[in-house]
Amino acid sequence: TVEANVQTDMEIGGVSTEKLVEEYGTPLMVYDEGMIRQHARAFRGAFKSSGLDFQVAYASKAFLCKEMARLAKQEKLSLDVVSGGELYTALQAGFPASRIHFHGNNKSEEELAMALDAHIGCFVVDNFLELEMLHDLANQRNQEVNILLRVTPGVEAHTHEYIMTGQEDSKFGFGLSNGQAETAVQIATRKPQYNLLGIHSHIGSQMFETDGFDQAIQILTGFVYQMNKKYGLELPVLNVGGGFGVRYTEDDQPLAISEYVQAISASVKKHYTDHELPFPEVWIEPGRSMVAEAGTTLYKVGSKKIIPDLRTYITVDGGMTDNIRPALYQARYQAMLANRPDEEATELVSVAGKCCESGDMLIWDLMLPPTNYGDILAVLSTGAYGYSMASNYNRIPRPAVVFAQDGESRVVIERETYEDLVRKDQ
Ligand code: LLP
Repeated sequence: TVEANVQTDMEIGGVSTEKLVEEYGTPLMVYDEGMIRQHARAFRGAFKSSGLDFQVAYASKAFLCKEMARLAKQEKLSLDVVSGGELYTALQAGFPASRIHFHGNNKSEEELAMALDAHIGCFVVDNFLELEMLHDLANQRNQEVNILLRVTPGVEAHTHEYIMTGQEDSKFGFGLSNGQAETAVQIATRKPQYNLLGIHSHIGSQMFETDGFDQAIQILTGFVYQMNKKYGLELPVLNVGGGFGVRYTEDDQPLAISEYVQAISASVKKHYTDHELPFPEVWIEPGRSMVAEAGTTLYKVGSKKIIPDLRTYITVDGGMTDNIRPALYQARYQAMLANRPDEEATELVSVAGKCCESGDMLIWDLMLPPTNYGDILAVLSTGAYGYSMASNYNRIPRPAVVFAQDGESRVVIERETYEDLVRKDQ
């Protein structure tokens, strides 16, 4: 008798990865669309349970294209944009301008004008130049604008810890302890076109705990309280930014989305109650946590270099051009053979990209089944800051991006062609 050797390949959104690769080629960025939607619903659901008013603004820098903006619209998210390009993409996709929040520490006059003309919901004003410039432009248009002031609470959160930075050494926002935030409030409230909704702070990214948020919220609440006592100001919105952690490898132990939201809600309720202030509308800006784990990059395995007694390199048909995070941040990823997911991992390899640069390594020391030319390597949790930070280094075209859900797939960003690469060349 012959033993049935039925091996199923890895699936994403109910679609076979072999089929995806056959249909769209490699490297390929595949999103499990249902998972992004689940994340959006988890954020919103947890806020609904808290009873607080809220907005969940997807930080589109993590990954944006028109279809992603449409998904965000369908899931009733707001959208955090940080450039004219992100704003343009959102507007082209028909994303409601009233739910767009515009961030950035050096918004140009053109970008501000574009956002005013689109009547976006809120500007997160970062600095004194912008405070003047935006108001002048709004004045010329006789337009009222909603603003938040970005402040630096002096809390900086890292993955496993948070630290208080006395000097608030950051390029973003108005310092709280040096009085600049208060000055900004004074200026903003004197300017007739401004409707000052509140303050914003973002303390870090890939956070695995909530102490940093609680620390920041306590400080922000103290400031809101002072502004209320001194100037009778009501600041109805508190934006605590993004930064919720995700799992890249087994070493990462993020909290559940609902746990982050519960901690933030509890902290806001506590500190506002302590200061006898009415609860604010709480805004958050998750980027990574919305899309990272929903994304998988599929590569074709190419050459193999075995250095006896030292290391085995396997090479894939992409690399730092589609995922610069390992090279830039020493970020770590997990990967598997998509075409033979159940086979025993017996070979220790390091995964190299194809760019002309030694630093173009995707994963060091990964156990895989013995690999051959043509195998499909799936690098997991690549959905955030991968495609959005992609480049054409070495004139390598960007991969295609596909959404998969319920056994169906569709292209949301076409693969770049060589034609695309020379399009702007004279
Ligand atoms: N809000 C503000 C004001 C931010 O600056 C950021 C991220 C976010 C929200 C979203 O943070 P998230 O939820 O995604 O952690 N390229 C880096 C990440 C840079 C994050 C910059 N700001 C990376 O690949 O790790």
